[in-house]
Amino acid sequence: MPNSRVQVQTELAPRLTSRPQREPDACALILFGITGDLARRKIVPALYHLVASNALPENFALVGFSRSVGEDSALRQRLREELEQHSRTTPIDEAVWERFASCIYAVPGAADDLVAYARLSKKLDEVAIQHGTQGNHLFYFATPSSAFPAILTQLKKSELITPRRKADTRPWSRVIIEKPLGQDLASFQDLTAVTRGVLEEHQVYRIDHYLGKETVQNILVFRFGNAIFEPLWNRNHIDHVQITMAEAIGVEGRGSFYEETGVVRDVVQNHLLQVLALCTMEPPVDFGPYEIRNMKSQVLRSLRRLHPGEVSDHVVWGQYADYHEEPGVTGDSRTPTYLAMRAYIDNWRWNGVPFYLRAGKGLANRVTEVSFHFRSIPTCLFGDEATCQMIPPNVLKLRIQPNEGISLHVASKVPGEGQGVGGVTMDFSYAEAFAKTPPEAYERLLLDCMRGDATLFARVDEVEFSWEFVDPLLAAYEAEQLPLSVYERGAQGPPEADELLSRSGHQWVPIA
Ligand code: BG6
Repeated sequence: MPNSRVQVQTELAPRLTSRPQREPDACALILFGITGDLARRKIVPALYHLVASNALPENFALVGFSRSVGEDSALRQRLREELEQHSRTTPIDEAVWERFASCIYAVPGAADDLVAYARLSKKLDEVAIQHGTQGNHLFYFATPSSAFPAILTQLKKSELITPRRKADTRPWSRVIIEKPLGQDLASFQDLTAVTRGVLEEHQVYRIDHYLGKETVQNILVFRFGNAIFEPLWNRNHIDHVQITMAEAIGVEGRGSFYEETGVVRDVVQNHLLQVLALCTMEPPVDFGPYEIRNMKSQVLRSLRRLHPGEVSDHVVWGQYADYHEEPGVTGDSRTPTYLAMRAYIDNWRWNGVPFYLRAGKGLANRVTEVSFHFRSIPTCLFGDEATCQMIPPNVLKLRIQPNEGISLHVASKVPGEGQGVGGVTMDFSYAEAFAKTPPEAYERLLLDCMRGDATLFARVDEVEFSWEFVDPLLAAYEAEQLPLSVYERGAQGPPEADELLSRSGHQWVPIA
């Protein structure tokens, strides 16, 4: 397919992104689960890069809390070794590491051990003096959600955290919680009841790292910074939409975690639905947290809930062939590693437009993208009907990762004397246009939290509506023993997913 490169005026970019941002506040970040997988792979490397780019507040300290954290020096050594493996840049810069290491502290203790919280409190007093953190505390729960209630209860008992009616009260305490937030709507509501007993909503930051991805944020700039799209962004012009989050990797040693989550709780209820919400929400009045989250919440509320009997007709479940061989997975596991579904948004803008959602591991490639498939041309002007049927409808693709960018597929005359018509793709690539790779999502989100900007964090109602949408799917799958299709590693997914679309005359965009 010919590709015509779009000239991007990169000099316009600074104006688009120049909304003044508050400086992050001085604070201590207390990381529960600092010896865990998430801290090792994402959070600590993100902090290291923030130190490297001088983006962290000058008055900052990291306090790791976990049962096996050891002494300060043991923790520093461990984090240093793990950084070697997981930093997005290597080798590790010694000067940067030294700066970072000098503000890392350890507090050993179990989540429910009140005495350990007394040690934590003492340590926080010390770092406040040593690093000038001003009593601002950012608690990051990088632990299984089953530990959240115990941590919150002990933080409250030891008076390390207090509800603040007003967001601008100082010193502040904020809590970042990681998905999966509960196992279903009921357990999420239980968790919410616990957080409400300790904190105000504005103190709770529900992190979804997809919202920190540059290209996910660009969905809003693309939609609302360009006047040409809004008139087309509805059921009158869009035939259907596909949202794909495909991964080539398997569960990567996280078998026992994955056995409890499966694809729906792991990425559909959160990442995929957040992307869907940004792509389909109404224009907000401004770009602040209140408005944007209101608009997303409305869409998530409008997602059609399926009745149990409808699930088998709308959803395909899959599992990659050697999943049973993963450590921590039982031989008879029915945990789905793949889901494809047809969803509808029952509102004025999207009524009747199918949204095909697909997510899975062990697939042909790592691709996250959204494609908007426009309606076919209404009448044929170029030769016979057969020629016209060969003109593919316009497709607008938002590539979230990798090769971040946007492409538009349009029809064009093929050079020559006849009336040959072919398809061409206009392509905008982030890396080419801006000559730099987008920063890691966790870096952006950590800073936002230190600034007190919750725009890119999920609000309680959004998460509730998302659970409301996926709960019937999970319930039907688990109760009715719906079929689970096995697919080979590196495949496009199970063939039943193709049938799901072909029934309505559609086809998946290949995962390539
Ligand atoms: C995480 C999931 O939230 O997102 C993982 O738990 C998944 O299973 C990961 O691999 C994908 O994130 P990214 O940023 O690599 O697309």
